[in-house]
Amino acid sequence: MAASQLLLLSLLCTLFVHRCHAACAEVSSDTEAVAGKGFKLGCISCKLRSEVESTSTVEWYFRPKGEADFVHIYTYNEGVASIESDDFMDRVDWNGSKMSNDIQDASIYLLNVTFNDTGTYSCFFHRILFYENHEYNTDVTKVVHLNVVAKATRGTASIVSEVMMYVSIIGLQVWLLIEMIYCYRKIAAAGEEALREAANAEYLAIASESKDNCAGVQVGE
Ligand SMILES: *[C@@H]1O[C@H](CO)[C@@H](O)[C@H](O)[C@H]1NC(C)=O
Ligand SMILES: *[C@@H]1O[C@H](CO)[C@@H](O)[C@H](O)[C@H]1NC(C)=O
Ligand SMILES: *[C@@H]1O[C@H](CO)[C@@H](O)[C@H](O)[C@H]1NC(C)=O
Repeated sequence: MAASQLLLLSLLCTLFVHRCHAACAEVSSDTEAVAGKGFKLGCISCKLRSEVESTSTVEWYFRPKGEADFVHIYTYNEGVASIESDDFMDRVDWNGSKMSNDIQDASIYLLNVTFNDTGTYSCFFHRILFYENHEYNTDVTKVVHLNVVAKATRGTASIVSEVMMYVSIIGLQVWLLIEMIYCYRKIAAAGEEALREAANAEYLAIASESKDNCAGVQVGE
């Protein structure tokens, strides 16, 4: 009974995992790029009505750090990509949904990132859903704040967790040592006590024996 339930459960899990793979999840983009390397600017907008036919076009905008306006840098429409800004010429590749006009993943890949790429990126989805007797337009905008660094820095969380790991390892060892010393001394003390007790008992036995003897002697006299 239990085994068959377990089997059913694992079967269900496998099914769900498969579903999850196919399903769309709006994972947010990384926000730290390393100068000179490539970087994937993530942007995902899931279609809520997966059964309805639709097409999407995507536009990317960029506002350099310290500037006021966004500039149009990239368009993706029916499988055709076009780079709209000279600053990004030959530096952008499509990393989003392929083989589909129904884009849910509009990620792009920046090649040879420079410090000038620091700023705010905005990806704009324009989606048309085709219902039986009407069309429905939806627009979704997502924003990525990109920071460019010379070398990959580590997140504070990872540093904190590493420190905590060392603290707990050292703490445990010290505790173990204290416990060992404590136990050792306790055992040693107990041993001494036992020895003393044994000696005492022997002494007392001898003493009482000799006392008896003495008493015997005294009585005899
Ligand atoms: C994104 O594009 C870059 C450059 O074309 C490629 O190297 C990389 O593998 C792509 N990544 C994904 C997840 O498609
Ligand atoms: C990017 O960097 C690679 C290697 O550093 C270089 O070969 C390539 O020409 C660069 N591409 C651009 C567009 O600057
Ligand atoms: C970055 O921007 C400055 C000022 O606009 C420009 O002089 C410089 O050449 C740019 N650097 C790169 C690597 O594009």
